[in-house]
Amino acid sequence: MRPQTGSGLRGNGRHPRPQSEQPRRDRGGSLRPRDRTRGRDPGDRRGPRGLGAERPGDHPRRSARLRRRRAGGRQGCRRHVTAVQNVVKCVHQAGMSVEDLVVQVLASAEAVLNDNELELGVALVDVGGGTTDVALFADGSVVHTAVLPVGAIHVTNDVAIGLRTTLGEAEMLKVNYGHAIPANIPREEMVELHQIGQDRVQVVPRRHLAEIIAPRAREILDMVRLEMRRGGHDGFLPGGIVFTGGGCRLLGFTEAAQSLLDLPVRIGAPGQTIGMSDQVAGPAYATAVGLLRWGTKLRHHANGHAPVGAGASALYTRTVRWIKDFF
Ligand SMILES: Nc1ncnc2c1ncn2[C@@H]1O[C@H](COP(=O)(O)OP(=O)(O)OP(=O)(O)O)[C@@H](O)[C@H]1O
Ligand SMILES: [Mg+2]
Repeated sequence: MRPQTGSGLRGNGRHPRPQSEQPRRDRGGSLRPRDRTRGRDPGDRRGPRGLGAERPGDHPRRSARLRRRRAGGRQGCRRHVTAVQNVVKCVHQAGMSVEDLVVQVLASAEAVLNDNELELGVALVDVGGGTTDVALFADGSVVHTAVLPVGAIHVTNDVAIGLRTTLGEAEMLKVNYGHAIPANIPREEMVELHQIGQDRVQVVPRRHLAEIIAPRAREILDMVRLEMRRGGHDGFLPGGIVFTGGGCRLLGFTEAAQSLLDLPVRIGAPGQTIGMSDQVAGPAYATAVGLLRWGTKLRHHANGHAPVGAGASALYTRTVRWIKDFF
């Protein structure tokens, strides 16, 4: 169990799994979803059953099962469990052990949220590369989490397709000149870029770049709003929304969020990183720093020590040094 301290989050961030939900292993020890063979005649050589095998209306109970699958129900859950266990297996094969598993967004929360926000009620939105993770907190506890399948890489892809350029060039354009609100960019501002198949440098209006980016930023924010509604907290979160993750550094993103979500918005970055450079203080490092803090608290709890104090700082510094040795 995670230590129940006066500060930080409550709940251990892990999802207990009943024995019946454990994925099976094949002979090589690889993990595979349990339902791949479930209920199948041994002589049946059909491939794994996909969504196309059943249609709503075939049979009332089967239709319910299909709806659940389409909603990413039990099957989707098993796939995540399998993915996590494969990561654990990789860590073991690299000669290391896993002490604990923590939901990514809860680790980020550990790094960027303060006690006031947690008690008042706050949403943490971690805009990563491949996904946007959402967690809602009330009375110091997590009440809702979700992983949305869209993130900053999708913005880069849109730019690469829209401006016919490489992904590397698109990433550079997004980071240096991108903006989530086209109206904020003066019409006369231009950016230079190399288009695929063109020898000469091209010049395009920076506003055009923003027009490519804005719909994706809007899509991410719309999905966040929907998720907050699902969690029952879209209208009332006195602590507002804290954005973290590298994707929230897109210029104009927080302004767009403020006007669309109509809540106080701030960017959350890990503070008080002992012995670490300024680089690691940015929002993209929220999860990494949060995991270090989580691990520190866990060890102190396991050793029967008070979770926070001078000793915690020393252990924290040692852990950071140990991780730095890998780079
Ligand atoms: N200044 C910036 N403007 C726009 N996007 C940025 C900026 N800086 C970083 N990013 C984007 O942030 C993303 C990386 O963020 P982060 O490190 O939080 O992702 P991740 O944790 O690796 O991804 P995930 O959480 O999905 O596994 C990249 O796609 C990058 O393009
Ligand atoms: Mg991340």
